[in-house]
Amino acid sequence: MKLKATLAALCAVASFSAFAQAPIVIKFSHVVATDTPKGQAAERFKQLAEKATNGRVKVELYPNSQLYKDKEELEALQLGAVQMLAPSLAKFGPLGVKEFEAFDLPYIFPTKTALYNVTEGPIGKGLLKKLESKGITGLAYWDNGFKVMSANKPLRTPADFKGLKMRIQSSKVLDAQMRTLGANPQVLAFSEVYQALQTGVVDGTENPPSNMYTQKMHEVQKHVTVSNHGYLGYAVIVNKKFWDGLPADIRTSLETAMRDATTFEKAIAQRDNDLAMEAIKKAGKTEIYTLSAKEQAEWRKVLLPVQKDMEGRIGKDLIQAINKEAAK
Ligand code: LMR
Repeated sequence: MKLKATLAALCAVASFSAFAQAPIVIKFSHVVATDTPKGQAAERFKQLAEKATNGRVKVELYPNSQLYKDKEELEALQLGAVQMLAPSLAKFGPLGVKEFEAFDLPYIFPTKTALYNVTEGPIGKGLLKKLESKGITGLAYWDNGFKVMSANKPLRTPADFKGLKMRIQSSKVLDAQMRTLGANPQVLAFSEVYQALQTGVVDGTENPPSNMYTQKMHEVQKHVTVSNHGYLGYAVIVNKKFWDGLPADIRTSLETAMRDATTFEKAIAQRDNDLAMEAIKKAGKTEIYTLSAKEQAEWRKVLLPVQKDMEGRIGKDLIQAINKEAAK
C-alpha cells in the first residue's frame, strides 16, 4: 500500500515536471508564401522568440493558408485555436474595426515615410487599441508595399477596367475603388486567387509584386500595370487572453523579439518587392507597363474621390488626420 502511494507520488512529480517544462506554443498562421516579407519576418520572429526565451516558447508557423484561410484565421484567433496572425489591414472590417480600411484608400500614402508617420505614431497605436474590445492585442505593423494591377488585357486608363471582374480582399474601400473604376469587385480568399484567375472566375486582381510572384499569379495574367495606387500592409495580432496570461518575463522577451522582427521586416519589404518585379519580368509571361505621369494623373483624378466617399464608413476625422500626418 505504502509502495503504491510512493509510486503514485513519484508519477505525479514526474508528470508535474514534464508539464512545467512543456514549452508555451504559439501557433502563428498566415496566408502568404514563406518567401515574402511577411513569411520571412514570421520565421525571424520564431528564431528570435525561441532563442530569447531559451526554448520556453515554441513558435509553430503555418504559412500559405495551410491551417486557415483569411476569414477563418481571424475566427480561429478569437477562439484561441491559434495565438498569432498577421492579416492584411484590408481584412479587419468583418471583425467590426472598419477604421483599418483607411489604409486601403487610394493614394493615401505618397511614400513609405508617410505610412510610417501614421503606423508608428498615435494614429497607428490608437487603431491597434481598438482591437482590444474584440479580444485581440495588436503588437506591430508589418510592411508589404504598393500595389500593381493585373488582368489579361492592358490596363492603362480607368476606362480599361470597365466590366472586368476584379478580385479584392474583404475591404469595402477596395470594393468602392473597383466600382469607381467601373469594374465588378469580387471578394475571394487569397488562397483561391490563382485558380480563380486561371479559370476565369475573375479577370484580374491587385497586390504588391511579392504576393503576385510567389502565388504565380503572373503565369495567368498577361498584363501588369505598375500603378502604385494603393498600399498593402499588416497588423501582427495575438489572442489577448493568451497574451495577458503569459508570465511577464516571457511577454517582455516576446515583445523584444517582435520589435526586432519588425525592424527586419521593414528593411526587406521594398527589396523583396523589387526582386519579385524583376522575376515577373524575367519569367516573360506578363507584359509590364508603368503608367506615364499623364496616365497617373488621370487615375488619381478618378480614384481620389473614393477618400471622400468613404468618410461615412471610416470617419472623416481619421481620414483627415492620416492625410495630415502623411503630408508631414
Ligand atoms: C491578399 O489577400 O491579397 C493579401 O492580403 C494577402 C497577404 O496577406 O498579403
